[in-house]
Amino acid sequence: LRFPSACDIDQHDFAAILDAIHDEVRQRLGEGRQADYIKALAEVSLDGFGMALVLRDGRVFEVGSARHRFTIQSISKVHTLTLALDAVGDALWERVDREPSGDAFNSLIQLEYEKGIPRNPFMNAGALVVADVVLSSCSDARSRLLAFMRARSGNPGVACDEDVARSEAETGHRNLALAHFIKSYGNLHNPVEDVLDFYYHQCALSMDCVDLARSMQYLAGNGHCSVSGEQVVSGELATRINAMMMTAGTYDAAGDFAFYVGLPAKSGVGGGIVAVVPHVLSLCVWYPGLDDKGNSLLGRYALHRFSRMTGLSVF
Ligand code: DON
Repeated sequence: LRFPSACDIDQHDFAAILDAIHDEVRQRLGEGRQADYIKALAEVSLDGFGMALVLRDGRVFEVGSARHRFTIQSISKVHTLTLALDAVGDALWERVDREPSGDAFNSLIQLEYEKGIPRNPFMNAGALVVADVVLSSCSDARSRLLAFMRARSGNPGVACDEDVARSEAETGHRNLALAHFIKSYGNLHNPVEDVLDFYYHQCALSMDCVDLARSMQYLAGNGHCSVSGEQVVSGELATRINAMMMTAGTYDAAGDFAFYVGLPAKSGVGGGIVAVVPHVLSLCVWYPGLDDKGNSLLGRYALHRFSRMTGLSVF
């Protein structure tokens, strides 16, 4: 077995580990800053922290505000990447690269000298191309993604927070610029407005830590979703998506995440971070105070402590 701890998962007292992490982060509530470039997110208070963990056998451990709903923002890029790969397979990689960027999530800088091919599917530029692929692959992309999220999380109540979607559209000048720039290279096939509308709605999906941890089960289970019992993607594809999360899931902090956490992870500016221990478990943390790279500050600390307390870093 590649991960010996996977066969002895009950050696870990996950309830006690989550309690210990909660005690540590409680002292630090208030640190970091909300994503104030989206008006609806700027108003969130910094007094809540939640964490949830789901084992392959379906057992859930949770602490704090693990049932508090927040908008998943860029975490949705994992799910839309899955839908795009399901729709067009490896042809996706002709339109999006799969290298870490070293730049901020909303950076435009590499796009011109790389001729409209975004560095990876997790920075905004790449996610817009992925959104375009999903739009082209079905008649109603928003419903398709919503159904996927509900099935993966087992929660039929997953829905979009229309206020957040609208709020982001009002101030989304940079995403509008990115989309037009990519379109000028012919790498968006649908109208820019349609791509952005889908993108803002995927970002504004409202879920809690338990929903999100469950939604990652297929990436912890070789493509098999323990929630619905379905084989969502092949084991090979799950491995590849996890690799993408490790190298690009936290943007220009991916190196630091590998260093301190050592798990495939994907963050969102709503304060959520999902992570996967391949073959073992999936988890999600939420704290809306962000660091200067746009990743949840205490979320990142909690994942660091989790990986060190359990020894479950992939390294
Ligand atoms: O495109 C945006 O700006 C956001 N709706 C999503 C960005 C995001 O979550 C980046 N993550 N850390």
